Amino acid sequence: MSKDLEAHIWEALKTVQYPGMSRDIVSFGFVRKLDVTGGTVTVELEMSTHNPEAAEQVRTAVVEAVRAVDGVTAVEAKLRVQQPPNRGASAQRAVARDPGLLPGVEHVVAVASGKGGVGKSTVSANLAVRMAQLGLRVGLLDADIYGPSMPMMFGITERPRTDGQTLQPFDKYGVKVMSLGFMVEIDTPVIWRGPMVMRALEQMLGQVEWGELDYLIVDLPPGTGDAQLTLTQKVPLSAAVIVTTPQDVALIDARKGLAMFRKVNVPVVGIIENMSGFACPHCGETTHVFKHGGGERTAEVVGTAFLGSIPLDPAIVAGGDSGEPIVVTQTEGVHADAFESICEAVIAEVRRGQKPTLRIV
Ligand SMILES: Nc1ncnc2c1ncn2[C@@H]1O[C@H](COP(=O)(O)OP(=O)(O)OP(=O)(O)O)[C@@H](O)[C@H]1O
Ligand SMILES: [Mg+2]
Repeated sequence: MSKDLEAHIWEALKTVQYPGMSRDIVSFGFVRKLDVTGGTVTVELEMSTHNPEAAEQVRTAVVEAVRAVDGVTAVEAKLRVQQPPNRGASAQRAVARDPGLLPGVEHVVAVASGKGGVGKSTVSANLAVRMAQLGLRVGLLDADIYGPSMPMMFGITERPRTDGQTLQPFDKYGVKVMSLGFMVEIDTPVIWRGPMVMRALEQMLGQVEWGELDYLIVDLPPGTGDAQLTLTQKVPLSAAVIVTTPQDVALIDARKGLAMFRKVNVPVVGIIENMSGFACPHCGETTHVFKHGGGERTAEVVGTAFLGSIPLDPAIVAGGDSGEPIVVTQTEGVHADAFESICEAVIAEVRRGQKPTLRIV
């Protein structure tokens, strides 16, 4: 068997994408095994998805791509589709968790930062909506009980329905949303002590009818205090995303946030640099208001992925204030792309967490 032929086949496999995603099937870890005997190729694909049709499309595309490689005489692509496993795999990784919480939720992904005001809630809202636009079943929990943002960011002013036992999340832009802000007056400060905070959070986790979800995005409050730490221990987090702005003072806090997740064995998918450069609508020139490139450098230093930057854009503020996240109003373009690639990185990380190394060369 020629090593060259095998390398060419891997290259061909890397041109195949999962429908609706821009990342290739190799980096997603869908290629379980590759066997090349003479010119006969067998590819074993394995993916966990709720969409078997998409998996079948991948299989057909794999056969076509491999058949086109010089030297290949026969191709067989075997496909194994699994229902996405429940959260057992990720729960094993970390500290003792409450098994009664979130029974129908497969993956819980936290959006965090060490510092306040860097755009966690903006990222959470847009990430959740983008995931829903890509066909995933998504929920969004606003865990910032002191300063909940989701009522405004989703433009929801009603109170949630309840039967006295359970609470119904709102369904907007394809996302199931719950926030303590739906239950308190918007300008009433929440003055609670630690144990009450945790009780409120537990209620939102345990008594909300989240139903079956692929992903529950959790918008965390800023910092690395007790509330965050307890939450990271209570909730079976599959992964965390760290949001930062590019200036050094924010980056120091981002590192602290990252260290906290690592301490409790939650994999950090990577760092997002928000408010990264402002393109002047008048002269077209970009001003790096908060410096530039810090997120990328920090990601390199701490050994995590850089997930991309989101520019400073008044349309994002307008979207946040008007209840229409930017990816709702701009379904294409720089913001939609940025959130899509973050979404794909999260999915890839969660998959990596479920299985041992899949690459067989
Ligand atoms: N890329 C961006 N361009 C312009 N404005 C932005 C951007 N990202 C966030 N903002 C704005 O910055 C403000 C703070 O954002 P957001 O509430 O998402 O931050 P946060 O980290 O969740 O804050 P907190 O720590 O208070 O929870 C909001 O008004 C939001 O609209
Ligand atoms: Mg916030």
